[in-house]
Amino acid sequence: MSAGAEPRRLPDEGRPVDEIFAELSDLAVDDRDWRTGRTFGLVFDGGDDVRAVGRDAYVRFMSENALNPVAFPSLGRMHAGVVAMTAGLLHHPRPSGDVGFMTAGGTESLLMSVKAARERGRARGVTEPKMVIPTSAHAALDKGGESFGVEIVRIPVRADYRADLDATAAALDDRTVLVVGSAPGYPHGVIDPIPELAALAATVGANFHVDACMGGMMLPFMEQLDEVVPPWDFRVPGITSISADLHKYGYTPKGASVILYGEEARRLDQVFLFDGWSGGFYASSAMLGTRSGGPIAGAWAVLQYVGASGYRELTRVTLDAARRIVAGTRAVPGLDVVGEPDMTLLAITADAGSGLDVFAVEDGLGARGWHLDRQSGPESIHATVSRGNVAVVDEFLADLAAAAADARGVRADDRSTSYSSLE
Ligand SMILES: Cc1ncc(COP(=O)(O)O)c(C=O)c1O
Repeated sequence: MSAGAEPRRLPDEGRPVDEIFAELSDLAVDDRDWRTGRTFGLVFDGGDDVRAVGRDAYVRFMSENALNPVAFPSLGRMHAGVVAMTAGLLHHPRPSGDVGFMTAGGTESLLMSVKAARERGRARGVTEPKMVIPTSAHAALDKGGESFGVEIVRIPVRADYRADLDATAAALDDRTVLVVGSAPGYPHGVIDPIPELAALAATVGANFHVDACMGGMMLPFMEQLDEVVPPWDFRVPGITSISADLHKYGYTPKGASVILYGEEARRLDQVFLFDGWSGGFYASSAMLGTRSGGPIAGAWAVLQYVGASGYRELTRVTLDAARRIVAGTRAVPGLDVVGEPDMTLLAITADAGSGLDVFAVEDGLGARGWHLDRQSGPESIHATVSRGNVAVVDEFLADLAAAAADARGVRADDRSTSYSSLE
């Protein structure tokens, strides 16, 4: 079967399992083969054993419904365990299962940070709330602003691509309900000045959220490896909430993020309770209703399986790979890395004056089987480096140099950038 020829009609009779699975393989024929390590971002693979543990735990609880942990206390227990383990890693002052919630991912965690901030603002009479966030903060916050009626004010980043404090201060007022800093931000992989942003947010009584969706499961282990890590977790005064994705550098099955709150009252701002429905009392911690137990069990099991020493090792090898890519990129004439990445996310750009078009370089990498995303501000190629890429760093650097050589004098016609798509 050729790709795109998949059946679009419900069959009158069910089909044989073998045939279905053969067709599933056919359907995947054009998918990026992340197993080769040539896909950056999108897939975080902890290796065969970690993947198997996550998969088996996921499948074991896939049918259980986290909508109602009273019916499935196992999910409530695992949820509490995952929240408590994460809270401990992030130096929450009272780490327990009651200081936050699991969500389906970084986007849902960020949506919830916006909702919680709006509720607190409402309680103090803010009717036209706004949030102040750097241009580098994740686009899911804009989705949150639009969804919850919070105006979005984007402030510039400094020359080092971290949030500009003066511009932030100037944008704050009594309508501001939320300020966000990232640890690190997606586009350039740098950590915003978290203590300073937290202090600024406090001057107007706004929530301060740290988006550690990327860093939450790596920065703690970098610190344990004696790496220098700028302050970003609950040891910083004034942080309202932190999001940390488990399905990224926690290497758990997809559908797992955690949002933690420093104070109970702020955590309660996140929840939705409704007792006026004929269907019964409705209590919901985040956006979803019915939710598979799979991601909760998968996360719990992988955290237990990998343990702190396993995460330190995953962090060590991934950090080393990212640093080799940074150094190797800078060794290619005409190429550079944007700013100084604090972790394992980086953006490859062309030196001003080199005449090199970085999107033409990306075309060359694509032709050689690599998957990276193009971004703007500045035009660059984004690489989120994770364990799956570690084995192919030398190949990547050789292909990068070859793609750059081929790109001399070439300008890519397609100037579009790509993070996600509707297709
Ligand atoms: C810093 C940051 N925050 C939030 C998100 C959104 O996470 P998700 O894709 O799990 O919704 C991402 C995704 O890459 C991210 O890099």
